[in-house]
Amino acid sequence: MNEKPVLVSGVKPTGDLHIGNYFGAMRQFVDLTKEGKYHPFIFVADYHALNTMQDAEEMRRRTREIVVAYIAIGLDPKDVVFFKQSDVPAHTELCWIFDTITTMPYLMRAHAFKDAEAKNKEITVGTFNYPMLMAADILLYDAAIVPVGADQKQHIEIARDTAEKFNRVYKTDVFKLPEPYIMPEVAIVPGTDGQKMSKSYGNVIPLFASRDELAKCVMNIVTDSSPSTGSGQAAHRPENVYQIHRLVRSEAELAPLYEEHRGKYKALKELLIEDLDRYLAPMRARYDELKNDSGMVEEILARGKQEARAVSEAKMAQVRKAIGVA
Ligand code: ADP
Ligand code: TRP
Repeated sequence: MNEKPVLVSGVKPTGDLHIGNYFGAMRQFVDLTKEGKYHPFIFVADYHALNTMQDAEEMRRRTREIVVAYIAIGLDPKDVVFFKQSDVPAHTELCWIFDTITTMPYLMRAHAFKDAEAKNKEITVGTFNYPMLMAADILLYDAAIVPVGADQKQHIEIARDTAEKFNRVYKTDVFKLPEPYIMPEVAIVPGTDGQKMSKSYGNVIPLFASRDELAKCVMNIVTDSSPSTGSGQAAHRPENVYQIHRLVRSEAELAPLYEEHRGKYKALKELLIEDLDRYLAPMRARYDELKNDSGMVEEILARGKQEARAVSEAKMAQVRKAIGVA
């Protein structure tokens, strides 16, 4: 039996990963699982993704991609129970049970629902119910900490409320209250046009791009409209190039280089291509090697499924007893 506090988190198989995702979120997340302080359960939130992705081929491809990507950047499947949400039926089963103790007005206060409503979007029942499935994801494993981005904080609060409500209604202590772990905001990584790098703006540098693709993206970085910040050296610095450069090389090393190549944007971009390529090449090589290894992803997920099922079924046995169906 593992005595370490449990860490639970889900990653949606959104794919098309870019260096903004990596430096902003993925890297921190992997570092946390490596600390050795926790017993981590990480899963691909495919049933959550179903709310926005309804294409079977795309689902299969992106699920595989996200598993390969996390392994390539350093998540070690030996230290982590890595599984697919859809492989563990307890998630949807518990979600239903939570639905029966949660009111509509309570869920109508969720930010994600309110945002969608404000935009007059047609909201599926699945989107409305998203926080209940997420509460089940977390509470099944007695999670002590749940690392997420700041936008997910309310969902963790909902999971805590739901655990308390279940325990109160059924006079039990089946569920443990999880703590959020909000990953520190890393400075926003700018895209090639200077706006926030985002797949929806078409301004990304893909995380696993080949050297040629990297070169193409970097050469497209907008330099002429960069704001001239401050005075002296920084005034002539192509800011969009520099802000990406500092992610892969120390500012102390960059200062003399940017001084030497003052105003020579093409030369600075060539340096950035070199440095980015050197930094990303090992992860890319690992990604390329793993993506063609047909059995590996399946094997990792099969092992994860077994362990996640065992843990979650034990919890469901307590739940079924508490509610009187067993
Ligand atoms: P996108 O904006 O490309 O759709 P997502 O919304 O899927 O990216 O973001 C996934 C994670 O990556 C989030 O935790 C987010 O904070 C982080 N992230 C995305 N883009 C950036 C960026 N440009 N800089 C820093 N972090 C980012
Ligand atoms: N909602 C999370 C996101 O959009 C993904 C997620 C699903 C999750 N279930 C979870 C995160 C459970 C932490 C714990 O990023």
